[in-house]
Amino acid sequence: MKIIAGNFKSNLTRKDSLEYAIKLDSMLSNRMHNNKDIYIFPSNTSLMQNNYQYITIGAQNCNDSNSGAFTGETSLLHLNEFNIDTILIGHSERRNLFFENDNICARKFEYFKSNNFKIFYCIGESLEIRNSGKYLDFLRSQLSFIDASFNNLVIAYEPIWAIGTGVNASVEQINECIEYLKNISNAPIIYGGSVNKNNSSDILEISDGILVGSASLSVDSFYQIINS
Ligand code: 13P
Repeated sequence: MKIIAGNFKSNLTRKDSLEYAIKLDSMLSNRMHNNKDIYIFPSNTSLMQNNYQYITIGAQNCNDSNSGAFTGETSLLHLNEFNIDTILIGHSERRNLFFENDNICARKFEYFKSNNFKIFYCIGESLEIRNSGKYLDFLRSQLSFIDASFNNLVIAYEPIWAIGTGVNASVEQINECIEYLKNISNAPIIYGGSVNKNNSSDILEISDGILVGSASLSVDSFYQIINS
């Protein structure tokens, strides 16, 4: 089973996201996709009922609370309204732009683990760490903050230098990290960072799946990737 996930980030309106999900679900009904697990992560204002036949709707981020005085945040209550039980935690954009450190990510992980969510936990090194040669140790340290044996965990390896740059990590680079991470956790390990329809099939051959950003924004492009 391969996991194919689209992270819309802060793109697509509520209307566009809904049309996208309806179209993708109907495109997928035309073929057999038994060996693919497909997810989309719309922005929080575009969340929709998680009731599609062939795709699962997930949240890109959520506060670790049921509800309360957390101005500007989305809480579990809001995800429950849509029957959403899949979440991305620790995306490098959350870590770098919104200052979510390993402790915050771990707190969110514990909260959503205890609420029986499927957690896509993102890790990945910067270019500086890659060039220092210490990237495997760094990935291990990021995972040391969470229970890597959680049975509903997906590890998303997303090297920061490959995100949104058009420079994907090579199959050899991805494979090295996946092999290393497999010694730490039995969770599926997926790759993200400049995945597109041209490189997706090579990456899918050596990984348990892919997390696609920009190339998931058009439903036709994402569908081509799903079929790769
Ligand atoms: P890009 O595919 O745009 O590089 O984004 C990857 C990503 O961050 C997915 O979470």
